[in-house]
Amino acid sequence: MKTPHNHILVIFGASGDLTKRKLIPSVYDLYHQKLLPKNFAIVGVGRTQIDNDNFRQSMSEGIHEFSNISKKEKTDVDDFVKCLNYISLDTSNVDDYGKLKTYLEEMDKEKQTGGNIIFYLATPPQLYGPVCESLGHHGLNKQEHGAWRRIIIEKPFGTNLDSAIKLNTQIQSIFDEDQIYRIDHYLGKETVQNLLVTRFANGIFEPLWNNRFIRHIEITSSESIGIGNRGGYYDKSGALRDMLQNHLLQVVGLTAMEPPALLDSNAIRNETVKVLQSLRPLSEEDIVKNVVRGQYTSSMIKGEIVKGYQEENGVREHSRTETYAAMQFYIDNWRWGGVPFYIRTGKRLPTRVTEIAIHFKNTPHQLFKNIQDADHVNNQLIIRIQPDEGILFKFGMKVPGAGFKAQNVNMDFHYSDLNNTYVPSSYERLLLDCMLGDSTLYARADAVRASWEFVNPILDAWRNDCSIPLHGYPAGTWGPKPADELVVGHHGWRQPCKNLVKDGEYCEL
Ligand code: BG6
Repeated sequence: MKTPHNHILVIFGASGDLTKRKLIPSVYDLYHQKLLPKNFAIVGVGRTQIDNDNFRQSMSEGIHEFSNISKKEKTDVDDFVKCLNYISLDTSNVDDYGKLKTYLEEMDKEKQTGGNIIFYLATPPQLYGPVCESLGHHGLNKQEHGAWRRIIIEKPFGTNLDSAIKLNTQIQSIFDEDQIYRIDHYLGKETVQNLLVTRFANGIFEPLWNNRFIRHIEITSSESIGIGNRGGYYDKSGALRDMLQNHLLQVVGLTAMEPPALLDSNAIRNETVKVLQSLRPLSEEDIVKNVVRGQYTSSMIKGEIVKGYQEENGVREHSRTETYAAMQFYIDNWRWGGVPFYIRTGKRLPTRVTEIAIHFKNTPHQLFKNIQDADHVNNQLIIRIQPDEGILFKFGMKVPGAGFKAQNVNMDFHYSDLNNTYVPSSYERLLLDCMLGDSTLYARADAVRASWEFVNPILDAWRNDCSIPLHGYPAGTWGPKPADELVVGHHGWRQPCKNLVKDGEYCEL
């Protein structure tokens, strides 16, 4: 295993939730596994005035609550937090960055970190541009004397096509593209990466992975939770921007890409971007017909009344923000011509599931007409991203006894069967990759742009055309009825549940 070069990790937005719940626990997990370099320090930057001791105390609580390492193994947290430091500054004031520069120079000398720095922007998105400019103003972007500088940008990367282009231009005027790491935590998930291995390490799938054998592909990312205390952010975002434009289109890219020539960042990202660039642009008519939006309404779940979206904290009165989006679309290239893709995502659906369902075409001639459940005997490969991570293959089998009755059966693999295998969290994997200078699992500028180009007409149509309905759906159900009509002719959406193989049988309500 390679170890990263010595460096300092600077986190902007250090007093925020993301730092405490995800970033610091993930860096601790790396520390615990001895994956950090010998000389390493973290500098938290925020407006809040706190000292090192308070910062360390608060981060130590975060580690105890959220780290991936088991409780009884966490005996080294006190040692780890000694590498944490905090400096308070006004991140919107360019002059304050002089103070940061001096602080980092002193720390570099003291810790011998070779001048290498990662800047992590975990701030509100409106600060991404200004923080980069201030870093550039003080020369903190410059890679001199063999030292490297990298910057990680959190989502959301823009709020529409224009703002994403502007932000890209602004950041690229300060940092080179190979210094920029746009994080999409879905790409850090083991099971998302396993898509590449499933497809390209096995000889049996790839020959079938095209429009000759695949009838349609369905991608679901459902959550049972509502928007919690994120109303302020979510109400300005909605499901399309929050999940579909980034996480789910990246998953589409990996599902539909051509085999890369090499296992390296550019080769892989060259192929995923081609998929995004081949998405058939949606006309106004397509948007009306093939895209459905919904918003959850109050209902009773497990005997308790659950608030509707409009009653949630931070949501504007009469808000028309969607908490559910579903759509049909096509990828116009040789491999996928004519194969419909379906995506749906939403909050307050019956269960939390993310999966890709590949539906293969029926046999050209149906010999076993008495087949039970004929509609579903088309073979399906389900790649489960979460939970009960694994792969399920459905195929027809003879029912023992006289005659030739066939029925669908399951063949399944669950990650949980791999005993004692440590599965890193997304942030842990992605942070380590950035420390090693590997950007394979980060979104490149052209991919971000292509995904916004695809999604932007939907945002425009929803904003400008009030005749496009926003459907209500009771919290705890599978979204609005018109979404079911999108998949008419394809026997409806799958009914996944927490347990990979129990689909269609029950769902925890
Ligand atoms: C985030 C979204 O990017 O992803 C959240 O902002 C969403 O709204 C979350 O809940 C889902 O991530 P995961 O890893 O729980 O599927």
